[in-house]
Amino acid sequence: MTSHVLDSFINQATARSHLRSEPADSVLALAPLMLDLVEHAGTFLQPQHFRSSEAGYTRNLIYEAPDKGLSLYALVWLPGQWTPIHDHGSWGVVGVVEGVLEERAYVRVSPDRGADEGIDLVRGGIVLLRCGSVTSFVPNPDHIHVTGVPAERSRAVSLHIYGRTMNDFNTYDIEARTRRRITVAHNES
Ligand SMILES: [Fe+2]
Repeated sequence: MTSHVLDSFINQATARSHLRSEPADSVLALAPLMLDLVEHAGTFLQPQHFRSSEAGYTRNLIYEAPDKGLSLYALVWLPGQWTPIHDHGSWGVVGVVEGVLEERAYVRVSPDRGADEGIDLVRGGIVLLRCGSVTSFVPNPDHIHVTGVPAERSRAVSLHIYGRTMNDFNTYDIEARTRRRITVAHNES
């Protein structure tokens, strides 16, 4: 890494997340750091962090901790690209550096007994995150959502830091009332 801004963010995020065992405390401590990071994103984002694909939203790795306890990605959303309905099983903090990122929430209305079947979800509200905005989530209860950009809007780019290497997450099928773990790809930095 060659950017002072990015180095400083990683160092502070690592220190703060290691001090806290509760996910809610981690996002409380890291959200202000993300607010600063998105403001200075132009000083460290490189062309490889803006890679995109017509096949779907693109995850470009910026940093992965040696102990896999922290990871930072730049996500690029072309118009009309969305995640599946998912949760992360981890805390996360998201900051928007370009465009408007839309997040549509889902709420579990069936009891969580840890099973992957019999899961009933209803649609919740949405948030529209402009450039400079920061949001966060924690597990337990799972934060279930769809994130993306409608076809009529322009490209969005966002930074995502998680409390683990984010190479898999739970996806939900509303009709089948099921949940399953899938692997999600990323481009190396
Ligand atoms: Fe997500």
